[in-house]
Amino acid sequence: MNIEKEINRRRTFAIISHPDAGKTTLTEKFLLYGGAIQMAGAVKGKKHSKHAVSDWMEIEKQRGISVTSSVMQFEYDNYCINILDTPGHQDFSEDTYRTLMAADSAVMVIDGSRGIEPQTRKLFKVCAMRHIPIFTFINKMDREAKNPFDLMEELETEFGIGTYPVNWPIGSGDRFKGVYDRDKKHILAFDNSERGKKKADKIEVSLDDPDTLYQLIGEELTDQLIEDVELLDGASYEFDLNQVHHGQLTPVFFGSALTNFGVEPFLQNFLKMTPSPLARKAQDTIVDPVSSPFSAFVFKIQANMNKAHRDRIAFMRICSGRFDKDMNVYHVQRNKSMKLSQPQQMMAQDREVIDEAYAGDIIGVFDPGIFSIGDTVCDPKMKIKFDNIPTFAPEHFELIIQKDTLKRKQFVKGVSQIAQEGAIQIYQEPSTGVEKVYVGVVGVLQFEVLEYRLKQEYNVDIIREPLSYQYVRWIQNEDIDIKSLKISLDAKLLQDFRGNYLILFNSTYTIKSILDRNPGLILAEVNTK
Ligand code: G4P
Repeated sequence: MNIEKEINRRRTFAIISHPDAGKTTLTEKFLLYGGAIQMAGAVKGKKHSKHAVSDWMEIEKQRGISVTSSVMQFEYDNYCINILDTPGHQDFSEDTYRTLMAADSAVMVIDGSRGIEPQTRKLFKVCAMRHIPIFTFINKMDREAKNPFDLMEELETEFGIGTYPVNWPIGSGDRFKGVYDRDKKHILAFDNSERGKKKADKIEVSLDDPDTLYQLIGEELTDQLIEDVELLDGASYEFDLNQVHHGQLTPVFFGSALTNFGVEPFLQNFLKMTPSPLARKAQDTIVDPVSSPFSAFVFKIQANMNKAHRDRIAFMRICSGRFDKDMNVYHVQRNKSMKLSQPQQMMAQDREVIDEAYAGDIIGVFDPGIFSIGDTVCDPKMKIKFDNIPTFAPEHFELIIQKDTLKRKQFVKGVSQIAQEGAIQIYQEPSTGVEKVYVGVVGVLQFEVLEYRLKQEYNVDIIREPLSYQYVRWIQNEDIDIKSLKISLDAKLLQDFRGNYLILFNSTYTIKSILDRNPGLILAEVNTK
């Protein structure tokens, strides 16, 4: 198989949205069009017995939010598509950031009646940090929606990004009649009869055919549409693919994921506009996806995805070349040659072991505890190291204590494994046991997930004591006499599990005063040692 051809047909993207905007429904419809599932409703249905494939953890199902990101691959129109689902909740924005590191673009789903919501804002910011192309799908047009011009303005003023509506809605709610395709200059009429059970049929009519238009969408909406189109052609941004690729212009699509309307045109246009796997930076080297041999980096580690197997999976984004299941790879951070164990890919409900994969693909490999987030794995000839994935400094801290001290082993294993996944950071008091663990997180919901997972996966009950600290700083000095440090009562000296010293603080004022009282002390927000 031609490697270049395989890589060029890959499209790897993340979907982001405020909870309830329709991300799961849209993902499901993509899978439906790709033939990866047979019937709408197979993927989701929070109130029904079946649960979304992307909602792996019980807690997600109970709370109706996606806690962790999952990966799905399917084929459509000779494209090989990798979708990365992202958690909608702000408390998981670090997970979202890591997932976006593995994506080449993002699809932002917006509820047409609500416009931009708090999570859309936060997630957009995370996308903007990566400068990846962002495509906007304005969903739920079968419900009463905001004026589309107002929605465009919201995107432009709030996000400082240009908008290019690729299609334009004709009415909304009960009066939703379809969309106008600005490129093909015809309308696609909405037929509500099937309500999303199968692929939508389309009826195409040209704007130059007013009689048919009147019959199809009525006089009032036809006149409105002609007026809107004139306004759009005169005033909106020009389409510029280069700007799209730099995240400066977002192509906007309108539709209704629930009824399937507008989903396929979106998918088709999006796949043409979104880039195939891009070159990646590895310190001073630029790794070209096609001409370089195999390379990948770990962006996510997840334990116990399948309760029956008690396994731990490291997810890797392949950045270049072809992966072959029997090949020897080099794990840069451990300086070791190895074979990747049980490489697999996710397809809708199933995981399957794979023989080969290409740049753009995400593979999950069995991890006996050797991988960390950001690790590089590559062809032994390469010896490159992808740039680190930045971590967010925790802002919330709790002390957790195991209820049953006889379960110490499970407790330590549980907190250590969950910490290795990158969702929490754990610390302890210098030279004491680990019955008490201090936990730092970016979002408070992580504490609930931790408590829930310790109970479900490790059978350990904990007591949680909230702490008032808000900042963590690592001591960077190599030879420091910890006992001589002058630390006030409103700060706490701790050690992480690698033995590095750190201090928790209540306020930036306390940080300053401790620095003043300990000349020469060097503190850093993120531990680089
Ligand atoms: P999320 O993943 O972004 O959180 O959203 P999800 O797809 O779960 O959709 C949230 C709710 O919005 C669901 O209804 C879903 O059926 C509905 N929805 C999604 N797309 C559309 C659309 O285009 N039009 C309309 N009218 N509704 C849409 P629910 O009642 O909360 O859940 P369920 O019982 O349908 O699962």
